[in-house]
Amino acid sequence: MARVLICDAVAEDALEAIRKGGHEVVEKTGMTPEELLETAPEFDALVVRSATKVRKPVLEVAARGNLKLIVRGGVGLDNIDLDDAAALGIAVQNTPAASSVAVAELALAHMLACSRFLGPANCTMKKGEWNKKAYGKGKELWNSTLGLIGYGRISQEVAKRAKAFDMNVLFYDPFIDDAEGAQKVDLDTLCRRSDFISLHIPHNKDTHYLLDTPQFNMMKDGVVIVNCARGGTVNEAALLEAMKSGKVFGAGVDVYEQEPAKGNALAEYERTVATPHIGAGSSAASKRVGAEVARKINEFFQ
Ligand SMILES: NC(=O)c1ccc[n+]([C@@H]2O[C@H](COP(=O)([O-])OP(=O)(O)OC[C@H]3O[C@@H](n4cnc5c(N)ncnc54)[C@H](O)[C@@H]3O)[C@@H](O)[C@H]2O)c1
Repeated sequence: MARVLICDAVAEDALEAIRKGGHEVVEKTGMTPEELLETAPEFDALVVRSATKVRKPVLEVAARGNLKLIVRGGVGLDNIDLDDAAALGIAVQNTPAASSVAVAELALAHMLACSRFLGPANCTMKKGEWNKKAYGKGKELWNSTLGLIGYGRISQEVAKRAKAFDMNVLFYDPFIDDAEGAQKVDLDTLCRRSDFISLHIPHNKDTHYLLDTPQFNMMKDGVVIVNCARGGTVNEAALLEAMKSGKVFGAGVDVYEQEPAKGNALAEYERTVATPHIGAGSSAASKRVGAEVARKINEFFQ
């Protein structure tokens, strides 16, 4: 029997499935880093989403205790010091596919919202205003070109749905050779030809500020940018500047350089449709993530 510490909330069904696997489950969400440091060594496994950061000091102390496995419910592993975990013999697993559709749908929602001013139109209606003229010159997705940066799980789900809008799909991904129905191009070509650009890449040293002023300068006037991937892949200040100059029509942003993004100038700008990192946040995706977390724990300790 393993002792499993749930550090960030996961679906109740998942906790039940872990208990059914014969393991003890302790829920302690919202711990401070100090509390985590103190608590983690007593457990064989930690379950985290994105809120809990599992850094080297925690890993070192926990490895001297019982910790053998960390399961990240979700995709990005940037909240865990992976090299330190590997060096200390602690396995790290995630649930990569469980939330792909939810993120893809949010990316499409951002494209539509930016194109038709859904954010400001809704806000001003609630203030009793009727700004039909101000929001009457939107864009259509139909027959436009969508440039996808990264062509992994989420991006391919976006591409499938973009086809239903009759969009032409380009992608830039040095690690994917071919794709049915989407044309591989280099980043400059993608920037020059796209009407909508959506990012679906991890954030690392190679992708830091992949979209910056030189890339915005290459783009068509009136392009829409969507980032439901990771903060830091787009230079927020450069994107804001490109919107203010009229180069970029609007931006749909779910992820930020600093989170929580309070007082963030990009998020507050009127042509940005901003959401607070909710890409994976559908009930169905939470259930799939939870089921996958439970399966990984039960298999690991079998
Ligand atoms: N907003 C959210 O709530 C949310 C939820 C889940 C995932 N995400 C993020 O979405 C991103 C994509 O997730 P995924 O499941 O599709 O991942 P994935 O690994 O399936 O796809 C990522 C793709 O990026 C490509 N890539 C890597 N480096 C690149 C580079 N330098 N240039 C171009 N392409 C590059 C890879 O080849 C891969 O095909 C991740 O950053 C993930 O953290 C966000």
